[in-house]
Amino acid sequence: MSKNLRQAFKINPNGIKPETVPCKTLRTGDEIPAVGLGTFGSDRFSKEEVADAVLGAIANGYRHIDCASVYMNEPEIGEALKIAMEGGVKREDLWITSKVWNDMHKQGDVLLSCAQSLKDLKLDYLDLFLMHWPFPNYHAPGCDGDSRNPDSRPFSVEEFMATWQQMERLVDMGLVKNIGTSNMTIAKFNEVYDLMRIKPSINEMELHPHFQQQELYDWCIEHDIQPIGFCPIGSPTRPDRDKTENDTVDIEDPVIVAAAKRLGVHPAVVCVKWAVQRGQVPIPFSVRENEYMSNLQSAIDNPLKDEEMEAIAKIDKKCRLIKGQVFLWEDADSWEDLWDLDGKILGYNK
Ligand SMILES: NC(=O)c1ccc[n+]([C@@H]2O[C@H](COP(=O)([O-])OP(=O)(O)OC[C@H]3O[C@@H](n4cnc5c(N)ncnc54)[C@H](OP(=O)(O)O)[C@@H]3O)[C@@H](O)[C@H]2O)c1
Repeated sequence: MSKNLRQAFKINPNGIKPETVPCKTLRTGDEIPAVGLGTFGSDRFSKEEVADAVLGAIANGYRHIDCASVYMNEPEIGEALKIAMEGGVKREDLWITSKVWNDMHKQGDVLLSCAQSLKDLKLDYLDLFLMHWPFPNYHAPGCDGDSRNPDSRPFSVEEFMATWQQMERLVDMGLVKNIGTSNMTIAKFNEVYDLMRIKPSINEMELHPHFQQQELYDWCIEHDIQPIGFCPIGSPTRPDRDKTENDTVDIEDPVIVAAAKRLGVHPAVVCVKWAVQRGQVPIPFSVRENEYMSNLQSAIDNPLKDEEMEAIAKIDKKCRLIKGQVFLWEDADSWEDLWDLDGKILGYNK
């Protein structure tokens, strides 16, 4: 946290009024702001830069922040949240999400992970705690992108439910108000949904114009699970190691560019508008004030026309960006094996 910001924090009277940002009502009755700020700086932005952006975003009207222990910046973001709350922002007006990482699924570890996130974020409850991935496979830090962890294995209902039951206990204990899933498929949901005592309020999933996941989106809505959309702009400046030659670029799509021209905005803003108008909650990342403010503003004014929404619905390229190849088990073939493409969960025997 830079000293200047720490000393200068005050709610900007000329920022966006948080009460003008629409909300989505969840199955618990809680309301989540329709746009959140992503906080995964990858290796492009320091923890301090991300925390400064969180503080600047809150000063200017953001109330929803998407965090995760694996982003390794929760202590710095916690400092920003503390300064904001000391500066007059009420805790109950903030929506703070965190997530349990894959190496903390074992018995007792989910509580430890949640407690650590609460300590780091300097909070006594979370609005939302997500199971970041539906399996305990993880990738040792610094490990080669193509290497496989010998402990990784296919999805297991028993393992998933043992972790989910720990998530449910966090609700019972009052440490988290909502729990949810991330990176799920319909096939996996079908195996676990009926077994869940507390149903997920949220499924956080990759959603952008070139990756619309319409079936999973519809499944979530039918089951009263609100989708949060990550990589809403198609993560255009992600590191090269996370790009493949077949990946497409949402913000260069002629349909997106045409709508951006009409509105006089960056194509990124069109992606955020499309997300909000379709009904998911996007969590675009940026540390640049002009960008994160135009993303929040996009939920408030100048909506896309019906014909633009219809045209964007037709540009789905089924281009998944977060492929998850680092979570594959030893005899898996390729990243597609993680995503149950033909409706079957590979390697899982009922
Ligand atoms: N649950 C999960 O498994 C999961 C997975 C991935 C991500 N996430 C969450 O989703 C968040 C967002 O995903 P992401 O950061 O990968 O991708 P993204 O939000 O689609 O793209 C972020 C990039 O878009 C550019 N951008 C943002 N707003 C812009 C604007 N108004 N005009 C022009 N350019 C703009 C910025 O580029 P520059 O930085 O170059 O300005 C920024 O780095 C993450 O931070 C994280 O919180 C969750």
